Amino acid sequence: MTGLSAIELADVVKEYHSHGEVVQAVRGVTLGIEEGEFFSLLGPSGCGKTTTMRMIAGFEAPTKGLVKLYGQDVTNVPPNKRDVNMVFQSYALFPHMSVWDNVAFGLKQRKSPKAEIDRRVGEMLEIVDLADRGRRMPRQLSGGQQQRVALARALVNRPRALLLDEPLGALDLKLRQAMQIELKRIQREVGITFVYVTHDQSEALTMSDRIAVMNDGVVEQLAGPREIYERPATAFVAGFIGTSNLLAGAATGGELKVGGGRVLVPGQDGDVTVTVRPEKITIGTDEPAQGLSAVRGTVAEVVYLGTYNSYAVSLADGAEVTVFQQNAHDATATAERGDSVWLSWQAQHSYVIGS
Ligand SMILES: Nc1ncnc2c1ncn2[C@@H]1O[C@H](COP(=O)(O)OP(=O)(O)OP(=O)(O)O)[C@@H](O)[C@H]1O
Ligand SMILES: [Mg+2]
Repeated sequence: MTGLSAIELADVVKEYHSHGEVVQAVRGVTLGIEEGEFFSLLGPSGCGKTTTMRMIAGFEAPTKGLVKLYGQDVTNVPPNKRDVNMVFQSYALFPHMSVWDNVAFGLKQRKSPKAEIDRRVGEMLEIVDLADRGRRMPRQLSGGQQQRVALARALVNRPRALLLDEPLGALDLKLRQAMQIELKRIQREVGITFVYVTHDQSEALTMSDRIAVMNDGVVEQLAGPREIYERPATAFVAGFIGTSNLLAGAATGGELKVGGGRVLVPGQDGDVTVTVRPEKITIGTDEPAQGLSAVRGTVAEVVYLGTYNSYAVSLADGAEVTVFQQNAHDATATAERGDSVWLSWQAQHSYVIGS
């Protein structure tokens, strides 16, 4: 990354008018994406990810706000004059053309010299690991291979940024996971800015340098994967990314009284909401040491999930807390349904969220 802002959105709003109704798809998004960055837009269906992407590509004009590429205002510049390329979920290769011709298509259109086309298509097929498949037709390839051809076709024109809208959506889980690693490798190799749209949180966490978590047309948090996971800014982010426990109440002297115990929230007083991740919590029957957050409850459910057990524990005040415990030594559960247990965790693993 060079620190240069490749893509900037300044207070971008997009309203659609359909059947006399106004739909606010994007409601004031401001963000900057650095050159060479793998940046993801993550959020549930309908939150405005595709609309945001289409405004960056120029297929959609913002109702309000500015789009800048490399410092230049491109708000009113058409898509073919922007130095970005887009890959869609349905990758739409030309079915009657070979892999080679699909990738060469854009360069031929631009009337690049034959020798240059040959060199660049050859290089690109190497990068996506399909050097020996140039003569095949798209229907003779697997879904993942077709997706890599689509990627090669988009990258061969050397755009400064590549926009990918749920490009792995059509693939099954195994192939998806393999392609996530491939995509990341390819991005590192070509060094181009990638803007990646997904509603799959694990996909975003795996691949991204930074993630903008969107909800209902706004960005709720913009940060690196670790920060988003460990320090969610809002209740929405905490709930959307992984599994999270929310505990709320009035704190006095840095302690929140819940579930027949205490949650330590150093320096906090008044109403607070705290999140704590399931894997940070220890479940046991002995009373935990002072200096730990500790609450009491009854095990409502134990689910065996292979590498770990998941416990649902009901606290005295009705709140439910999920606990993950790794099956590091043997697969026997430490507690059974109906058992009375203590849950404990270190103060640093409680994270006070905004709202
Ligand atoms: N052309 C359009 N006309 C009217 N409303 C639209 C149009 N395109 C999108 N919308 C609405 O704008 C909102 C955001 O849509 P968008 O396609 O950006 O969501 P998304 O985050 O990409 O969702 P998904 O994950 O389902 O693809 C939705 O409520 C959608 O119904
Ligand atoms: Mg979409």
